[in-house]
Amino acid sequence: MSRFDVLVPEHIRTLASYKPGKPLKQAERECGVVCSKMASNENPLGPSPRAVEAMREAAPFVHLYPDNDATELRNLIAERFDMKPEQVLVTGGSTQFIDIIAHSLLSPGLNAVTSERSFLAYAMATQAAGGTLRQVPMQANTFNLDALLAAIDQNTRVVFIANPNNPTGTMLDSQQVTRFLDRVPSNVLVVLDEAYYEFADYLARQRGVEYSRSLEYVREERNVVVLRTFSKVQGLAGCRVGYGFGPTELIEYFARGRTAFSISVFAEAAAIAALVDEEHTQKTVENNAAGVAWMENQLAEMGLPVTPTWANFVYVDVGEDASVIGQRMQQQGIIVRPLGMWGAPQTIRITIGTPEQNAKCMEALKKALARVVTS
Ligand SMILES: Cc1ncc(COP(=O)(O)O)c(C=O)c1O
Repeated sequence: MSRFDVLVPEHIRTLASYKPGKPLKQAERECGVVCSKMASNENPLGPSPRAVEAMREAAPFVHLYPDNDATELRNLIAERFDMKPEQVLVTGGSTQFIDIIAHSLLSPGLNAVTSERSFLAYAMATQAAGGTLRQVPMQANTFNLDALLAAIDQNTRVVFIANPNNPTGTMLDSQQVTRFLDRVPSNVLVVLDEAYYEFADYLARQRGVEYSRSLEYVREERNVVVLRTFSKVQGLAGCRVGYGFGPTELIEYFARGRTAFSISVFAEAAAIAALVDEEHTQKTVENNAAGVAWMENQLAEMGLPVTPTWANFVYVDVGEDASVIGQRMQQQGIIVRPLGMWGAPQTIRITIGTPEQNAKCMEALKKALARVVTS
């Protein structure tokens, strides 16, 4: 045992580090071709141009610390979603919100419940807080709500639900979620992680389905926290800014657990500008819906089982070692996410791109499956 093994508690020593989708520059260095990143569910249209301009305008003021509460952004979010500012917390990405929830509510002996094959941050945050994560099996690549209920015991404090789920892209509709909330014990907090809210909402309207009533639950003072992010539809993943809604008292506690000055001057300025840039949001969700329809159709023609998606990515069973397929696609300039880490070694997740990227991606996948690789 080293002296640090003694110093660092076991639940930290055994933490796995987060392995993100491969960075663009690293992939390009590895294979020597220009790549398109379709691995991390980012916005293929880039950031809102208004957000870029706002960051330029904010640049001369970065010698000053940011507003610790991101007050202007918080007020704007509250107004936009018809909530009180006290029900809103802005964080350094929604991942930071997840960390705050875990650190605030969990400790050794307590547990959180979620599904297998969901967002990896739930496991990391829970373990870092010293708690245990119970992951229940899925049903047809979807959260199994009965199994989640059955896994809750007197030591459960949090249930994490990604809706739509990353990486499977599946969605629970508002009726399913409402029925679930009616049955969850009142001392358990349900986190509805809606990182892909705008994409799901658009697809649900197209498909005539009611997706989410999440903000109503918060207004009804239920034990619910709703998470959203600027990383996806607004294209600000590199800025690290997310937000959530919850009961006033809980939000007040969570605010105390946020690292001081987490939301940078750039992040707040960009988020404010992006939130009001409805044109960019609309273009993004329209591009996504068209890309989903096209790509699901292409994959079906290739005979690959695809789970219908409600987000900005598709979950594709390639029927062979996904990491090999990922490598072969990368050699052709397309980076996707093989899902071995989620326990799905024959599955890849592909982020919907521009029409050109989607076409190039399908070509690369066809060649990868046929083992014909250029270069
Ligand atoms: C379900 C889910 N929640 C949260 C996030 C994290 O978003 P952020 O960039 O705001 O930390 C992601 C990102 O991939 C996600 O898939």
